[in-house]
Amino acid sequence: MTSPKLNIATKFSSFSNGVAYVVGVVAKGEKVILADTAVEVSTIEQLDLSLLGAKSSLESVTRLAAPNGAVYLLIGLGTAELDSTALRSLAGAASRNLAEFKEIVFGLPTDSKEQTAAILEGSLLGSYQFGAYRSLNKLAPVQLAKITVISAHKPTPATLARAEILSESTSAIRDLVNSPANDIYPQSLAAAVQKLARGTGVTVEIWDEKRLAAEGFGGIIAVGKGSSRPPRMVRIDYKPKNAKAHLAFVGKGITFDSGGLQIKPATSMIGMKYDMTGAATVANAAIAIAKLQLPVRVTAWMCIAENLVSGTSTRPSDVIKIRNGKTVEVINTDAEGRLVLADGLSIASEAKPDLIVDVATLTGASSIALGHRYTGLMGHGLGVEKAKAAAEAAGELVWHMPLPADLRVSLNSDIADIANAKFGAKGGMLLGGLFLQEFIGKKAKGNDPIDWAHLDIAPSANNDQAPWGYNAKGPTGVMLRTLVSLAESYC
Ligand code: BES
Ligand code: ZN
Ligand code: ZN
Repeated sequence: MTSPKLNIATKFSSFSNGVAYVVGVVAKGEKVILADTAVEVSTIEQLDLSLLGAKSSLESVTRLAAPNGAVYLLIGLGTAELDSTALRSLAGAASRNLAEFKEIVFGLPTDSKEQTAAILEGSLLGSYQFGAYRSLNKLAPVQLAKITVISAHKPTPATLARAEILSESTSAIRDLVNSPANDIYPQSLAAAVQKLARGTGVTVEIWDEKRLAAEGFGGIIAVGKGSSRPPRMVRIDYKPKNAKAHLAFVGKGITFDSGGLQIKPATSMIGMKYDMTGAATVANAAIAIAKLQLPVRVTAWMCIAENLVSGTSTRPSDVIKIRNGKTVEVINTDAEGRLVLADGLSIASEAKPDLIVDVATLTGASSIALGHRYTGLMGHGLGVEKAKAAAEAAGELVWHMPLPADLRVSLNSDIADIANAKFGAKGGMLLGGLFLQEFIGKKAKGNDPIDWAHLDIAPSANNDQAPWGYNAKGPTGVMLRTLVSLAESYC
């Protein structure tokens, strides 16, 4: 889909045939009534909207006929405050329900330029769909060619371009994650990112399996060696001349996680093509930041391998050596994400960046703790507060979780420096964080570790519940906007 034209109108003009006009509805006692809107509503003002099926609950949608062959989309505003985050989400929900319209006009109330931009952003994010693998029941292509927000608060052209870049990059993540593991394997994922990066001003470097082994990436090699499709490491480097800081992003890129020899049960393996979401996210974040030409250096590391079962797979109790020299006893071959990330965090640390952020579908335990929408956030130094503020600015949900030192004993190994897991241990999400922490290098000066944030996106990467906000069922592209906001916080 080519990006729709983004338009701001200061006031409502007239109804056009085939255009959808989005108007909020709220509860008033037992009734459902129209919320404040700039859209002309005289033909529906007197109607009993409840009898027509309209509901005020958040994101419920009802279509009504408007003059001149136009259509109203009434959308429930719920009871929450209509800030940028809520408006982005509502605009996304409206757009998800208007795929066959060429133009959408939003008559939701706005108080600021940010809110106008949030509506445009949400509308773009919500108009994503993925039909690449259908030969029957093909999806009608998204028709949307123009999005109009009626508002007195007009964002700058740069802000409009930003909304387009964020949506493009989010779609790129969703496309990669939706694509099945028979097409997206280490080599093809690396190639796909190389293609996405073309012309954006980043440099892409790819480590093949020989170079990975020669340069001591024992985690990536160990995880990838059960597959006939060898592992890769990809570095995407955006290095502007005027860089005010250097951020390193590290992403888990398991193109399929069978669990390895300690194989997953049949049902748990469904969805494991999503296990490369972290790598797709960090790569596209670096590319988005380059397209925005932010004065911040970003180095993204994609740690890519396929975790399969074969005569060459890593065995339970094997001991491997990570890039930074630490040895790991592999107690559970299904705790593979932390092994590839250990190499990624080690090499990312070598350049002494100001901040390291890793993004990973790391633990099932994070979903048990946080449900379906929140990303687990752990870290040390300035990492947690920087990531939290960035998520807040981007309107994404993160929850700060601790890294309790007393749990570290669960990772003691009888023969190696550390074990990758312990059966029956409590706090699985936190143990994942504690393991990764061991591979964050020291700052250039002093003895402190480099500031670090760990984002466990296992709960939030894949929306397997009903569609909500700008998320269809399937990959969400979550944390892309947080990483971009994070880079902006250094400008
Ligand atoms: N990729 C999984 C985590 C996952 C599970 C992501 C469900 C999304 C949905 C990860 O590699 C894994 O298998 N983790 C283990 C860790 C354990 C063996 C320490 C888990 O969560 O059970
Ligand atoms: Zn696993
Ligand atoms: Zn995994």
